[in-house]
Amino acid sequence: MRQPLVAGNWKMHGTRISARDLVSGVRQGLEGLGKPRVAMCPPFVYLADVAAQIQGTALALGGQDLCPEVGSGAHTGEISGAMLADVGCSYAIVGHSERRSLYGDSDEVVARKYFAAQQAGLTPILCVGELLEEREGEHTEAVVARHLDAVLTQPGGVASLAKAVIAYEPVWAIGTGLTATPAQAQAVHAFIRKRIAQHDQAVAERVQILYGGSVKANNAAELFAMQDIDGGLIGGASLEAEQFLAICRAAG
Ligand code: 13P
Repeated sequence: MRQPLVAGNWKMHGTRISARDLVSGVRQGLEGLGKPRVAMCPPFVYLADVAAQIQGTALALGGQDLCPEVGSGAHTGEISGAMLADVGCSYAIVGHSERRSLYGDSDEVVARKYFAAQQAGLTPILCVGELLEEREGEHTEAVVARHLDAVLTQPGGVASLAKAVIAYEPVWAIGTGLTATPAQAQAVHAFIRKRIAQHDQAVAERVQILYGGSVKANNAAELFAMQDIDGGLIGGASLEAEQFLAICRAAG
């Protein structure tokens, strides 16, 4: 059985004070939560604060991105995987659609970030997903396959998925209030699992595939009930403790 995972991607939101209040709210509500693993991905500058606050709890920490370069060096403004691990992260999001569309992260860069995360001992959360026009043009599977293959076709790519998480985030559903229906999401999740299974059945069965895109307290349960949906990557609704906790409970 795959353990559910709910990860909050705060994006570029919050202040030190709001971050502290949010984490404290989530901490309090976590007791008795049981099954799902819960992770939070605050902006880089708040990671150390949040790490201190969640020490001794079951909460996990993740970065929202990382530098594709491994090791240290002259890369002004960048944050390495080793630095994320050093402040207590166990996850790093790579290939988020906002990084792809606003900051030019290509499939090649996303793959480098993915492997850089793993080299630092982090679990990459690899985001894949199509634009609205790609869905309307019936290119969803081709786009998702391309995003996946950027990693799968690298040496060791298939085996690497044993230590990775995939997040299917249809771009048209991100921050729009439009959610993929459970059936639409399930179809893509099943496609992803099948594509991995063509290489390695066992890895395909074990890899967690999260859904992201306007997941809220009132739609999480029906999405998470689908066979191949193993939890969620949550944007807006992760900024409010009660909403986020309700989503975590729906994954239990
Ligand atoms: P929303 O939940 O705000 O739609 O964002 C989803 C997302 O992009 C998570 O990475």
